[in-house]
Amino acid sequence: MNVHDSEKVAGVLLARGYAPAPTLAEADLLLYNTCSIREKAAQKVFSRLGEFRQAAPGRTIGVLGCLAQQEGEEIFERAPWVSLVCGSASYRRLPDLVAQVEAGGRRVTGLDLDTEDTFETEITRRDNPIRAYLTIIEGCDYACSYCVVPHTRGPERSRASASVLAEARRLAQAGYTEIQLLGQTVNSYRDPSPAGLDFPSLLRAVAATQGIRRVRFTTSHPNDFSREIVAAIDDTPALCDHIHLPVQSGSPRILQAMRRTYTREDYLERISWIRAARRPISVTTDLIVGFPGETDEDFADTLSLLEAVRFDGVFAFTYSPRPNTTAASLPGAIPEEEKARRLAALLEHQRQIQTVRHQSLVGATLEVLVDAHRPARRQWSGRSTSNRIVNFTSPLENLLGEYVQVSIMRAGPNSLIGEQAI
Ligand code: 5AD
Ligand code: SF4
Repeated sequence: MNVHDSEKVAGVLLARGYAPAPTLAEADLLLYNTCSIREKAAQKVFSRLGEFRQAAPGRTIGVLGCLAQQEGEEIFERAPWVSLVCGSASYRRLPDLVAQVEAGGRRVTGLDLDTEDTFETEITRRDNPIRAYLTIIEGCDYACSYCVVPHTRGPERSRASASVLAEARRLAQAGYTEIQLLGQTVNSYRDPSPAGLDFPSLLRAVAATQGIRRVRFTTSHPNDFSREIVAAIDDTPALCDHIHLPVQSGSPRILQAMRRTYTREDYLERISWIRAARRPISVTTDLIVGFPGETDEDFADTLSLLEAVRFDGVFAFTYSPRPNTTAASLPGAIPEEEKARRLAALLEHQRQIQTVRHQSLVGATLEVLVDAHRPARRQWSGRSTSNRIVNFTSPLENLLGEYVQVSIMRAGPNSLIGEQAI
């Protein structure tokens, strides 16, 4: 989502006649897009801002994104060489804000969170030539006790379906075949226009766009996850057979303390819907370890959930207290060493599960959309529809952006290795 925000910012500025500078030292204006989901990302920002001052002295520096939204004018106090601070809901105003700085303004801000108009930019300059991101819903109305996102991205707002479908058509005309629909809770989508599409209907409509061969969506919230989503994937080959469904914890008690609004049983029920599909659908998740008060038993519940679901991929994080969140003032903080130990144990457990799952694909032929070339290793790389990384060799050239059938020869925990089936 942040990567796509940067693409939107670049588009907004290009539309006003700005051009990208080849190097940092040659830039007149430096905009730094930031993340504040965990403390480490936030800390990095101030050290990078110091580096920018040294590398490009006297230049106009702006801070964008969630840390900008979170810290606001405080950024000017800690880094007085910054002259612009702007959150993601205000990017359409960026050219005006930059113009204010150019006219001599100091400490210019764009920090409104309630702006409606965050979807349509005149141009979105896409950096990824293979996969096009498309935002369908912004913000978040949940209130998970650990999470800073509702504070930095504001309330949930969905984009009109006609606008989503028009962008999908433009992307197809520009040559894209894969679209990834984006939203913090993408499946909470509710069409605000009279067409009134729900999320599964929107999925089907985007997948029907002429020229689009793959549609992905991220991130889904278990609470809004319905059987109709699974049915849409089952019926529609262009909908990729992959669902990213963050569970965060396997412990019923911790799920409640996290205010996730579903139980462990609810989550497992959704997994059973996915497993009952005709197409094999891969499932990935996000997990947090070391939430305040997490006992050994709670952590054991998370490990047992890994076994119960057997995910195809896991993004796991140690809990990081964030400003303005209720979890930050909960008692029972877990020491950092213990958090790290649990994280390592979890990842090792999951590595074994993935190794076994991947082994079962040896001998299969998968369709891969090629997105990288490593000439030194004479290797191509891409993703299967289930989002697995497939590295392969081929006697052919110029495969970037092509769909290739790959016979899988070997499997590791994180990727598959094969050769083009010709
Ligand atoms: N500490 C650790 N991980 C977090 N995430 C969100 N907030 C925190 C936090 N305070 C993780 C969640 C989410 C992912 C994007 O980041 O797992 O799904
Ligand atoms: Fe954060 Fe929860 Fe919203 Fe996801 S659903 S963005 S974790 S508040």
